[in-house]
Formats: sequence, structure tokens, C-alpha cells
Amino acid sequence: DKGGWSSFMAKEIAEDPQAVEDTIRGRITDGTVRLPDLEALSDEYFRDIDRILLIACGTAYYSGLTGAYALEQWTGVPVAVELAHEFRYREPVITERTLVVSLSQSGETMDTLLAVRFAREAGAKTISICNTQGATIPRESDSVVYTYAGPEVAVASTKAFVAQIAAIYLLGLHIAKVRETLTDEEIRVETTEFQTIPDKLRETLTHHESIKELAGWMADTRSVLFLGRHTGYPIALEGALKLKEIAYIHAEGFAAGELKHGPIALIEPGQPVFVMVPSPRHDNGLHAKIVSNIEEIRARGAHVLAVAEGGDASVMPYTEAVFATPPTSVFFEPFLKVVPLQIFALELSTAKGLDVDQPRNLAKSVTVE
Ligand code: M6R
Repeated sequence: DKGGWSSFMAKEIAEDPQAVEDTIRGRITDGTVRLPDLEALSDEYFRDIDRILLIACGTAYYSGLTGAYALEQWTGVPVAVELAHEFRYREPVITERTLVVSLSQSGETMDTLLAVRFAREAGAKTISICNTQGATIPRESDSVVYTYAGPEVAVASTKAFVAQIAAIYLLGLHIAKVRETLTDEEIRVETTEFQTIPDKLRETLTHHESIKELAGWMADTRSVLFLGRHTGYPIALEGALKLKEIAYIHAEGFAAGELKHGPIALIEPGQPVFVMVPSPRHDNGLHAKIVSNIEEIRARGAHVLAVAEGGDASVMPYTEAVFATPPTSVFFEPFLKVVPLQIFALELSTAKGLDVDQPRNLAKSVTVE
């Protein structure tokens, strides 16, 4: 039941806040994280791991790429993210100290399932982050951290994506607590910010109409590029995937630092480019870097569409449009930055008169290799 929405995808984007809220409910209390879900894996085990591998396909893979930044920083454990089908066929080095975390909305993706089986046979412990109770992947894993996004019907994954990042963060904070790589106070700071995200998502959703208007003007666009740095990079990849899937438009995401290594040759007058702009308040130097990337592409005639923190005036002179997101800390930005891109894909597909929920050639759950 679409509950009055024009499509399941529209309904599910509107449920982004609820998906995060339900995924963290009861798991963050008194400034710390509690994950009884993981009781099959002892604290001793988590103290002993020396590598974490995230494996998934499609949008779930991008949630892994996004979550990996905080996961590695919080836990002090090296994290790698791999496409499940690539991982399995390259004979990776796996030991008992390797933790393999799979991400899958459906829990039935064959490529991901086969990678999980492969990892277990090679001696790794496996945790499944999954949105479907009792699905095959969680059943075949040592442990599971469920996401509570509710059923996702549209082929294009949206609310499951934000819920997956939330689950990676819960896992990261749990491991950081056990390994004492974050202090109690640091965990309190992160969990406190985490709990503000559902409301900040609600605020971000209020810009739906202005994004719809932009998508309406762009119905004939043949190519859209997406740029980001740090966690903005996988969000750029996810924004491009959404557009390919449901609007059938050529779209590509790039790490902004790669521009001068090739992609800037693509920029010609009128080329639309979405840019994920990190907050100027973060002391990682990324904001200034992105602003200079914007200047570079703007000088070559690009039409810049910025997703930036509300009130960040520095990008205004170089942009055709700015989509504002509420302020948050570094690792929580991707939750908010992805929303305008989800809405843009939805509205561009709608403006082109396409079937938003059932794009051609795609199935919701890919149960063949
Ligand atoms: O059910 P899963 O999360 O394992 O599915 C993985 C991908 O097939 C899925 O995310 C796909 O890329 C979506 N259609 C993206 O919107």
C-alpha cells in the first residue's frame, strides 16, 4: 500500500527518518550502545580481530563504503569494502581474525550469500546487516544486526541505505567500546549526535519541492555527474546509481580529488554536476578543497548543484542551486547528504514519465549469480 504516495519510492524516501529511528531504538541508551544481537560473538573475539571486511552489492556496497570511514576510525581496525562477487573470486587472504560483515537489504542476494559462505569456509566469523527477518544470509551468518527500515518495495533502495549506515555505526561503536578505542565520553558525543539524525532527516525532507522543481527543468538532461570527498564520495556514487537505475540517464560519481586525473575533461558548458559540500565547521580541510574543485569546474562552464550545510554562503557565487542540509558532525553528514539525491532521482524519473518503482531490466532482489 502506497499510503497516498505517488510511488513506493516516494513513500520510502519519506520513511528515511523512521528507518534510522527504528534501527537505533533501544540500541542507544544513556549515551552508549547496547547490541544484544551480537552476543554470539564475545568481547574477547572483538578484541582479537585484526581486519574488518564489508561485502555487499549495489546500494548496500555504497552503504559499506560510507560506513567504513567511521568504522575504521572508531575501532582502530583496518577496514576494507568489497563487492561480494569480486571478493569471492579473487582468493582473498582470510584468517580467524578477519571479521566479515555482509550488508543486504533482502538477505537473499546470491552474490552476497556466496561470499558469506566462502568467508565462513575460509575461517572468518560473519555478521549480517540485513533488513529481512529470517532471510538466508542472516541464517547463514554467525550473528546479525537487523536494520528496521520496514519492507522496501521500490527496486531503487533508499530507506534501507540510511538504515544500513546506521547499523554499521552501531557495530562500530560496539567494537570501539569493547576495544576501548573510544572513551565513554567520546561514545556519548557520537551517540548523542546519532539520536538527532532522524529529526535532521525530517528537516532535510522539507526541501522536496525545490528539488522537484529542478528535476522538472532537467527532464531532457542526458548526463549528470556527482562529486564528493571523504564520505561525500560514496554518496556521490550512490546518487549516480539512483539516476542510472530509475531515470536511465548516464550518471557517474567521482572522488573530487580525481578530477584533474581525468574526469575534468568531461566538463563542457552546461554539464550538470552535483557536489557534496562538507561543512565549513569541520576542521579536516575538506571544505576549502571542495570549493576549489567547484571553481575549477565552474570555470569550464559546469552547472553546479551543491548539497551543502544550510547557511554555507561560500558556495553561493558558483552554484545554480544549493540544497541545504542541517549541521551535523563529520560522520553523520552522509545520512543527510543522500536525501536530496534520492529525491532528485525520483523526481527526474517522474518528470520523464517512467515507472519509478519498477525500472526496466531490474529485479528487487537478485537471487542469481
Ligand atoms: O538486497 P540487497 O541489499 O543485497 O541488494 C543489493 C543490490 O542489488 C541493491 O542494492 C541494488 O543495487 C538496488 N536496486 C539499488 O537501488
